[in-house]
Amino acid sequence: MAWKRTHTCGDLNIEHEGEEVVLNGWVDTRRDLGGVIFIDLRDRYGITQIVFREEDDELHSRAEELRREYVVGVKGVVEARSDENVNPDLQTGEIDINVSELLVYSEAETPPFEIKDDIGTSEDLRMKYRYLDLRRRALTDNLMLRSRSYQSIRNYFHDLDFAEVETPVLMRSTPEGARDYLVPSRVNPGKFFALPQSPQTYKQTLMASGFDRYFQIVKCFRDEDLRADRQPEFTQIDVEMSFIDEEDVFEMTEGLMKQLFEEVSDREVSVPFDRMTYQEALTTYGTDKPDTRFDLKFKNFSDLVADSEFRIFSQTVEEGGAVIGFNLPGEGDMGRGELDRLTERVQEETGAGGLIYIKVNEDEIKCSVGKFLTEETIRQMIDQAGAENGDLVLILAGPTPTVYEQLGTLRLMMGNDYDLIDRDQDHFLWVTDFPLLEWDDDAGRYVSLHHPFTAPQTRDLDKLENKPQEVLSRAYDLVLNGKEIGGGSIRIHQADLQEKMFDVMDIDRGEARDKFGFLMEAFRYGTPPHGGIALGLDRIIMLLAGADSLRDVIAFPKNKSAQSLMDNAPSYVEKDQLDELHIDLKDWVEKQKKEELAESQQKSNS
Ligand code: AMO
Repeated sequence: MAWKRTHTCGDLNIEHEGEEVVLNGWVDTRRDLGGVIFIDLRDRYGITQIVFREEDDELHSRAEELRREYVVGVKGVVEARSDENVNPDLQTGEIDINVSELLVYSEAETPPFEIKDDIGTSEDLRMKYRYLDLRRRALTDNLMLRSRSYQSIRNYFHDLDFAEVETPVLMRSTPEGARDYLVPSRVNPGKFFALPQSPQTYKQTLMASGFDRYFQIVKCFRDEDLRADRQPEFTQIDVEMSFIDEEDVFEMTEGLMKQLFEEVSDREVSVPFDRMTYQEALTTYGTDKPDTRFDLKFKNFSDLVADSEFRIFSQTVEEGGAVIGFNLPGEGDMGRGELDRLTERVQEETGAGGLIYIKVNEDEIKCSVGKFLTEETIRQMIDQAGAENGDLVLILAGPTPTVYEQLGTLRLMMGNDYDLIDRDQDHFLWVTDFPLLEWDDDAGRYVSLHHPFTAPQTRDLDKLENKPQEVLSRAYDLVLNGKEIGGGSIRIHQADLQEKMFDVMDIDRGEARDKFGFLMEAFRYGTPPHGGIALGLDRIIMLLAGADSLRDVIAFPKNKSAQSLMDNAPSYVEKDQLDELHIDLKDWVEKQKKEELAESQQKSNS
């Protein structure tokens, strides 16, 4: 039996003084002060201090038995705390509950780690006992933020008359370019479903069906290498619209971000967002997802040093590479040792051959390759970099685009090291005009940068066959504080252009038809111009919550080896089950399976 609570543990304040209340919750901490027992009672809403006084012997001795994480119900009266005991940091910090009745719903073993934020418990232990980890305030708050976000997002789209449609989880392979998770079909021996990397083909088909404006909050699955901002199973806010162009997608997305941020947090979002072409992002920040909350913009010195005696500079320029750098204000007094260490780090972390610097100081200008450059060239480089007395200019030389990416890594390093990033700001940025295709050495053909349904820019259509590398696409990414939080494009909606694209990418028409034939066929029966975007919900929540990892905003995430340690997924399955699916394991896998099963049997026996 459970008592009906009158309030949650986050509700009560001085206005409730004198009321009889019932609370349910977990024992968070217990303090015994001169016979009076204080317990912090916790639920997902907050913490309320409950008090057991000595007058009631029986009740008092039962309270002495309470341990951390017991689940209890209490009845009592709300009392004001004395002035010196008020806790202004706590929602309920003005009051206590003077307990008159206690009901213990369940006892608890001592948990393997304290239910407390910032306790430095190992990630593996936390993942194994995820249900306990989720009791911590920080994680509870993140998931509640996520919960409020779903509602805000749904309201936004429904208010704009978007149709919410669920697309299949068991489907054909999708075109996003990562590895698929496969699911064998028992009733179709030898055949496999793929879990969606995204609902891309379905949402475009829905446009052909006339749904006009679609959205879905949808699970996607990608079997790729994991990082802090990548999970094998993640959630997209997936959107597609008909009879629109880029501007409509931008406006819709900006409205969504503004509403979401302002409804679920106190962060203001100003629209429209800034825009930058891919080319500018790469040559100014060295990445297609620049963190524009700080400066350190690149300057190109190639023309200045093309004829210099310093071979590394002149040869780099001759071979079509670039000599680029940025000004680091106020660091002109960096010592030799520190510069050496920085050079080593740059070599290690970016793969650059070396780091060149100019220290700009009133009494002396010191360039690390000064003896090969004229004073005038150095002066011009300083001017170009916009450096003033006291500044340090950092320079890399190398082939493009690699050197841009290397300098981009150095820029981020310096931004972090010298605390140049204004973390109170949110900087949204559209990156546009991506190349349509990139050359894939391994495959020996062009592959699409976004996906093969992305439309080329109309003005580049005539280059599609002869200069495919110069064709720009109608794709765009949304970047927030240096993280890619979304990507999309205006699509090809004509079957003949789509087939031409497959030709340019040397995708055999048979293969294309086999995989995506249904979509191309759909295009033949009357398809509107359309386009859309998918936003990474987990990444957005991570940024909203100020968390460092996607694992902190997903209820049951996978670890870096794509495993769930709590329920031990993935796991071996019984031979019968494999037989039913007509699957044999390779010999070495069979052997490994036997060894591992024997080992765990032994463990559970001992
Ligand atoms: P894209 O592949 O760019 O586009 O994905 C859209 C957004 O999804 C997020 N994302 C991820 N988040 C967590 N873990 C991952 N492994 C992961 N992979 C991607 C990113 C990314 O910006 N169908 C197209 C969209 C379209 O064209 O409309 C697509 O999926 O934030």
